[in-house]
Amino acid sequence: MRIVQRAQELILTSSERRIAVDATCGNGHDTLFLLKHFSEVYAFDIQPLAIKRTGEKTAGFKKLHLLQEDFRNIKNHVKNADAIMFNLGFLPGSDRKIKTSDHDSAEAIIRALGILNTGGVMTIACYTQHAGGMEEFLIIKARLEAENIPFELEEGFPGREILIAIKKQPSI
Ligand SMILES: C[S@@+](CC[C@H](N)C(=O)[O-])C[C@H]1O[C@@H](n2cnc3c(N)ncnc32)[C@H](O)[C@@H]1O
Repeated sequence: MRIVQRAQELILTSSERRIAVDATCGNGHDTLFLLKHFSEVYAFDIQPLAIKRTGEKTAGFKKLHLLQEDFRNIKNHVKNADAIMFNLGFLPGSDRKIKTSDHDSAEAIIRALGILNTGGVMTIACYTQHAGGMEEFLIIKARLEAENIPFELEEGFPGREILIAIKKQPSI
């Protein structure tokens, strides 16, 4: 199974379905999915094209907060969440130079875990084939280990994609 599908399956195991965050909304596929299952959705992306595409894809949904913002600043806009999705890399069909990058992604993930409610789920879709993708995955993994955060790994398309899944425990 591709990790984008698996991430959505895991997100639905969150204990509550109130507030969800799409940290990298891109073309809006995950945002649309979250809108169908959660009461309120915050979607972030650093690039205007992604905000435009997501806005078009989700037209008519009043419970969406769509923000052009760096994902390291999610905490400035959202105080708690039941589910958080990160889908790393570049926006398909656009400038590949604008992409998530290792230490920034790791920092954004640690900060976002701070607003994830106990029983909530975070998924991090990592793509290991493009330049820097494997390094980004390894740096995130090392950071989670250094912070003693338990996580599960699932491989999708072999050699190309890995999903990191975190179920928030009271101790994290
Ligand atoms: C793989 S795409 C996301 C795909 C999206 N989830 C979808 O359903 O179409 C990765 C996105 O991360 C965004 N991005 C890169 N750096 C970012 C940052 N620092 N903060 C927020 N978004 C960022 C890119 O602009 C790109 O749209």
